[in-house]
Amino acid sequence: MAFSPQFLDEIRARLSLSDVVSRHVKLQLRGREHTGLCPFHNEKSPSFTVSNDKNFYHCFGCGAHGDVIGYLMQAEGVSFPEAVEQLAAEAGLEVPVSSPEERAQEQRRAGLLEVMEAACAFYEQTLRSPMGKTALAYLHGRGLSDETISRFRLGFAPPGNSLKTAIMSDAMPEALLAEGGLVRKPDDGRPSYDFFRDRVLFPIADARGRIIAFGGRTMGDGEPKYLNSPDTPLFDKRRTLYGLAHARSAAHNNKRILVAEGYMDVIALSQHGIDEVVAPLGTALSESHLAVLWKVTNEPYLCFDGDNAGQRAQARSAERALPLLAPERSLRFITLPAGEDPDSLVSTQGAQAMEELIAKSTPLDAVIWKLETAGRDFDTPERLAGLEKRLEDRALSIADRKVQFQYQSLFRQKLRDMINAARNPNGNSGGRQGQYQGRGGGGNFNRGGSGRGGRGGRGAASWEDRRAGTHLGGVPDAGTRSGPDILKKRHEQVLLAVILNHPDLLDMFAEDLAMVNVSNPKLDNLRQEILKVYALTENLDSEGLKTQLVKQGNSVILQSVLTSDVYVHAGFARLDAAEDAVRTGFLQVLASHLAPARRAELEDARRLYVNEPTDENWERFEKLKMDGPGSPGTEVPA
Ligand code: UTP
Ligand code: MN
Repeated sequence: MAFSPQFLDEIRARLSLSDVVSRHVKLQLRGREHTGLCPFHNEKSPSFTVSNDKNFYHCFGCGAHGDVIGYLMQAEGVSFPEAVEQLAAEAGLEVPVSSPEERAQEQRRAGLLEVMEAACAFYEQTLRSPMGKTALAYLHGRGLSDETISRFRLGFAPPGNSLKTAIMSDAMPEALLAEGGLVRKPDDGRPSYDFFRDRVLFPIADARGRIIAFGGRTMGDGEPKYLNSPDTPLFDKRRTLYGLAHARSAAHNNKRILVAEGYMDVIALSQHGIDEVVAPLGTALSESHLAVLWKVTNEPYLCFDGDNAGQRAQARSAERALPLLAPERSLRFITLPAGEDPDSLVSTQGAQAMEELIAKSTPLDAVIWKLETAGRDFDTPERLAGLEKRLEDRALSIADRKVQFQYQSLFRQKLRDMINAARNPNGNSGGRQGQYQGRGGGGNFNRGGSGRGGRGGRGAASWEDRRAGTHLGGVPDAGTRSGPDILKKRHEQVLLAVILNHPDLLDMFAEDLAMVNVSNPKLDNLRQEILKVYALTENLDSEGLKTQLVKQGNSVILQSVLTSDVYVHAGFARLDAAEDAVRTGFLQVLASHLAPARRAELEDARRLYVNEPTDENWERFEKLKMDGPGSPGTEVPA
């Protein structure tokens, strides 16, 4: 819903910012401003200021800045409309409803929410009454404390029609109870009856903590084990995450969120101090679930049972997430010992066991790789080609082009590693790769273990293989016996020709191109012109780039670059070359131009890590490696 600026101003005017802030921060009045320790970064002396007059807060330490709405969003991790609704309520303002239909719908929802709340209170009360004795014993038997039971508002639905009897009234007529899914009204005119009977109840709340549905567990072996409320105007199973309201502020503080499978996992983890946990409601994780989770953190952790079914479910989730990935936005996967769920794990081994699994979580790419490779032999060219194709298809299912490209290169690199390992079971690279051994330090370079956020299993490729990866579709031999200068110039022409025909590469490589050393002065000038046009133009395409360059008087040099002479040596530079070939070819030429400086830098970082394998050194190395395609040992392709 769109809020009018007047309405937002009214909220700001009615609420005192320092009152809202002082719920989280101890503030002191200094002159006309309040100061305190910034809630958004770690600090020992106060640099956080709040001005009621100006109606904003500002932190001189971390730069956090905003008004009362922004404050609530940042401090409690809620969305804009949620912050507005919450503050409006505090300010005693009705959130404006734009149309009569909307108003009617709002009213109906409000009525339903009241019914659900009344039912929740009834079930809670019943759990504590003599009728709820067995149910309470069941919950205690499952290790839940009274405090946990109250916090999650667990309840008991007795046999018979006790809910209906207890809460049906003029204000809460049967129709409303039925609409909320609390009673069932048979079509044949028989009287309505309670939906939940003789079950332990788990109230399901929306993102703001209002009860919208229930899950009821049988205490025996009855079927179904869990009975969930039907979908209602309040409750859409495929959009709701159990525990979200509760998990959100913890997730915000701890910068992570876990997705478990069921009610009991969420509750047991919370009882063991891990509060940032949610669960879908018996459905697979949907796109809207993912959207909610990605608003909370960039890399939600998904937990799965280590048994076959659990691992299949894990693969399916990974597969489903692929199209939705974006830079920084992914998933991580936690595999539990076979037959365990987070509830059973922490109940028997404590929270530390869970933390250890979180630290060992697997990134999404590794799950996809395993999905395509586990339990299969790739001992023939055809099988390898099949694998290559399937991996390529997986990568192509990623909509975001930058992420897609990263997946393509990673899979290619891993494929190379696999082939080399098969050819050289002793770890000795032979043939062509051999020539790089001395420089790269030799052998595959794997990071042992993996810390928090570690890349378990994502062994860094050998230098050689990274290069080999980019060689698929590489630069063909120039086939001339010309002197080194002419060769050099040819490479510089190729480099610029690819960019001229495929300027989208600049989205990824503009910085590299800026650092490249081009020895021919005219070509170097063209390089700089290209970068300028790129910097000034949005959505630059080849046509547009060339037009601009010609306008600026570069047509002669342009023509000298875009010649068949260049294309003969580097087909991937052509305008109509396959995207894949363009990228791999380009990476290789670029690498050769970056070579000496980049080589030294990377080698330093690598040596540092080998001597001192800290996370920090790893990150430094990996960042350099990701930053540029240039890898040590890369020869100037001839
Ligand atoms: P599980 O069968 O794994 O149960 O279902 P659980 O969470 O370990 O529960 P306990 O420990 O036996 O009590 C996982 C989730 O799948 C949904 C529920 O949301 C449950 O929490 N489910 C399961 C249903 O909706 N209906 C069912 O019949 C079973
Ligand atoms: Mn369980």
